Amino acid sequence: MISDSIPSSVGRVLVVGGGICGLAVAWRLAQAGADVAVFDAGEPGRGATWAAGGMLAATLEAEPGEEAMLGLARWSQDLWPRWAEALGAPVGYRDEGTVHLAVGRDELAALHHRLRYLRRLALPIEWWDAAPLREREPALSPDVLGAIASPGDHQVDPRAVVPALLAALSAAGVPVEAGAPVAAIEPEGGGWRVHLGDGRRERADHVVLAAGAWTGRISGWPAPPVHPAKGQAIVLETDPAAPLLRHVVWGAGIYLVPRADGRLYVGATVEDRGFDRQPTAGGVLSLLQAAWRILPGLEELPVVELVTGLRPRSRDDLPIVGPVGPGLHVATGHHRNGILLAPATAELVLAGILGRPAPVDDTPFRPARFAGRIESRMDA
Ligand code: GLY
Repeated sequence: MISDSIPSSVGRVLVVGGGICGLAVAWRLAQAGADVAVFDAGEPGRGATWAAGGMLAATLEAEPGEEAMLGLARWSQDLWPRWAEALGAPVGYRDEGTVHLAVGRDELAALHHRLRYLRRLALPIEWWDAAPLREREPALSPDVLGAIASPGDHQVDPRAVVPALLAALSAAGVPVEAGAPVAAIEPEGGGWRVHLGDGRRERADHVVLAAGAWTGRISGWPAPPVHPAKGQAIVLETDPAAPLLRHVVWGAGIYLVPRADGRLYVGATVEDRGFDRQPTAGGVLSLLQAAWRILPGLEELPVVELVTGLRPRSRDDLPIVGPVGPGLHVATGHHRNGILLAPATAELVLAGILGRPAPVDDTPFRPARFAGRIESRMDA
């Protein structure tokens, strides 16, 4: 973590967007002594963050060609326990780990392929055959043939993280304004003028644009390409005294996240549907079919909620974090990893505001990678 405190010359920082990354940035800046405020278009923390599974799955999310992302994700994963403790309120942190399992020969072959890839990266994983797997998770289908176990891929409950962050911000004296959409920004006198939807104007020395999938809709800056990736999920209810699962469980096209209070989160689709947030029968069907194959006992469980959220997805699937120009910073594009990457994002934005080198190589995540292809909205 960056230990420097913010000099008073940094001035006033406005964070646009009160999802987990915006709130995390604001909290980190407040800890460093900044004068910071947050504006959220709706209810802070109630967008993609509220809909998220909360998996801190740096290892199992590793994808070929995205090794830079792995470094960032593992750093953020390491920051999470300290971060959770510093928040000073329960955030549903569970450290039983995650298993990625296979049903049928084809999935088993694909999983072995993945196992070899993760082993080449020297990631902390184990292989569990069917018998030890079912010993640890007896409710799994007898058709499950084996799993990659990732003991370091933990979870938090985003619906506990949000109130914890808001309480920490309130204790730090940071105003977080709900129902305050930002329509545009414009440079003014070495700083920025922030135009709110209700006609108000706010002056800032630094602006951090962290409005998730909506970040590119704010006018007056060269927005990098970010678009919504719809996710549908289902929340089921289990008896917390007799939970069906202990680990986070991944299968083909599905993951199951058991919460300590008995809720079982079944997620999630990844759909290109613009800003549509309507749950659909097709989405629910695909989730339940995939979940039922690995956990047949879920048939009997009450449905508590259908959840949809819009992940902010960049053109290259990597987060977009860092300075865009003097006093202007962006933190979006976290796609499937917003909860995981919140602590690292806060550190990167702090480094950018201080004009310090980032604690990790942040070159792949800088907005400048889209230079020349960005859509200039300075005149919009
Ligand atoms: N983190 C998994 C997802 O976005 O569905």
